Amino acid sequence: MSDITAWLARLGLGKYIEAFTANEVDFDALRHLTEENLRELGLPVGPRRKVLAAIAALNTDTLSPPSSVSAPAPPRHEAERRQLTVMFIDLVGSTELSQRLDPEEMRDVFHAYQSAVSAEIARYEGYVAKFMGDGVLAYFGWPSAHEDDAERAVRAGLAAATATASLTPGSLDQPLAARIGIATGLVVVGDLIGEGSAQEQAVVGETPNLAARLQALAEPNAVVIAGGTHRLVIGLFELIELGLQELKGYATAVPAWRVIGEADTEGRFDASHGVSTPLVGRSKELDLLLQCWQQVRTGSGHAVVLSGEPGIGKSRLAAALEERLRAEPHARLRYFCSPYHTNSALYPVIEQLSRAAGLRLGDSTSAKLDKLEALVLQSAPDLSEAGPLLASLLSIDFANRYSPIQLTPQAQKARTLGVLIEQLERIAARQPVLLVVEDMHWIDQTTSEWLALLVERLPDLPVLLVVTFRPEVHPPWLKQSHVTAVSLASLGRDEGEAIIRRLTGGRSLPSEVTNHILAKTEGIPLFVEELTKTVLESDFLVDAGDHYQLSRATCSTDEDVNGGWYCEVF
Ligand SMILES: Nc1ncnc2c1ncn2[C@@H]1O[C@H](COP(=O)(O)OP(=O)(O)OP(=O)(O)O)[C@@H](O)[C@H]1O
Ligand SMILES: [Mg+2]
Repeated sequence: MSDITAWLARLGLGKYIEAFTANEVDFDALRHLTEENLRELGLPVGPRRKVLAAIAALNTDTLSPPSSVSAPAPPRHEAERRQLTVMFIDLVGSTELSQRLDPEEMRDVFHAYQSAVSAEIARYEGYVAKFMGDGVLAYFGWPSAHEDDAERAVRAGLAAATATASLTPGSLDQPLAARIGIATGLVVVGDLIGEGSAQEQAVVGETPNLAARLQALAEPNAVVIAGGTHRLVIGLFELIELGLQELKGYATAVPAWRVIGEADTEGRFDASHGVSTPLVGRSKELDLLLQCWQQVRTGSGHAVVLSGEPGIGKSRLAAALEERLRAEPHARLRYFCSPYHTNSALYPVIEQLSRAAGLRLGDSTSAKLDKLEALVLQSAPDLSEAGPLLASLLSIDFANRYSPIQLTPQAQKARTLGVLIEQLERIAARQPVLLVVEDMHWIDQTTSEWLALLVERLPDLPVLLVVTFRPEVHPPWLKQSHVTAVSLASLGRDEGEAIIRRLTGGRSLPSEVTNHILAKTEGIPLFVEELTKTVLESDFLVDAGDHYQLSRATCSTDEDVNGGWYCEVF
């Protein structure tokens, strides 16, 4: 691990390592970075603040010789307190397996299982801390942290269960199965214990024990999560509440949930994007979208791309348009690109089709085909081409219903894209369509091809295409005359204040607190919301009925707001 990599990981900013290394920012260059440089590297406000504060701390260390600055101790050697999501995976029936198989076969089985599980952990950027016989211990949040480590752990858990269940090694007549337990909480990641390959980073705290206990009560192939993890993934997964569980070593029963699978994408998206709140500002942009819609209703399609920094309000604006059109007859199609599926061909399209057809996890193959056919027949006159192609796209086995597809892979892909566009044309022939593609910065190659075809067809279709993405994306079709690019700027001061007021329930904050929130968040609504919530949850304010005031403890420190107390919050 390079110095800069270790340093960023220690700050919990591992996701920016690529930006730093791609721009050849080494540890020496780091000391001279300005806020503008960090902006160029793509860091939003929060991470920029963290990096600048850490650079300031480095630069005050003037007595250290440069060599000690340029070689910071890697994070592994320092005890540190941090939030970690811990996952325990255990192979079901390993004792019985070891009696049935000879030692070489058993070693192969272990090897296949450990490789499969480790690959899934690595895919979600977790860290395999230890193999313990047939058990695997993994961390999410150390050594590199992501804002969504709990979600990553649950996804990795589900994927590890699926990967294990797909293994039927050697002489075994049935597939392997794993039990998985996940817990999130504060731990101390301590010094290295042991020597050589037996070295292990000690993680001290209740969290690893809890993950291990939950793993023991999971059914084969099931993922069970604790309360701390549950709080962080509410709305993102389909869960079954298992109620309070008596666990060995725990004085009181603890709540647990079984994860069934991903929640419906639309629900997941809305849960994490607060679309139920009133829109503040953005009237010019919304008017433009509504004008485009009027034009679309006359039959000539248009695309509007909304670009801007994370949290600036792209999705909120798209949602506001959807709200405004609610009373009008139209079809709405939503496609969500995902950071976890940037390499899965047509992932957003597959998800949309599954949702539209109402496919459920437990559906039988024939039930899935029935639902898909019902969906296709809403727009297509027959199923002869679309049926097998779309069933194949959704990985539904159609051997008992249609003849095999006699096309080369390239031809099949081209025809699948053709069928998808034709399907849209038929929907649009009946009513105007609002088609939203969210987060194009995570689009996979094939969906990108589908989108380009769609943009090409737009002028003749009553379709308003709204695409959101972060600034780094430059689709090749951007310059066409029926495409309008809207770059979202920061909100103004009044608008920022309106968001704060909404979160305080209309009660005013001390003006110095409002000023600091607005100054620190630079008009990015997501940060305004987050910082306001942090301030409201802190001990620095008390609710005084129709307003908030600084708490007595805060005032009695005799420090003005430029002096100190707010540093703890901001
Ligand atoms: N104009 C606005 N009025 C009120 N709230 C807003 C506004 N813009 C954004 N928000 C709120 O700020 C948060 C972030 O907005 P949003 O999710 O739309 O950002 P985004 O640009 O889509 O970010 P990302 O690139 O991460 O998808 C949400 O909770 C949203 O409701
Ligand atoms: Mg968004």
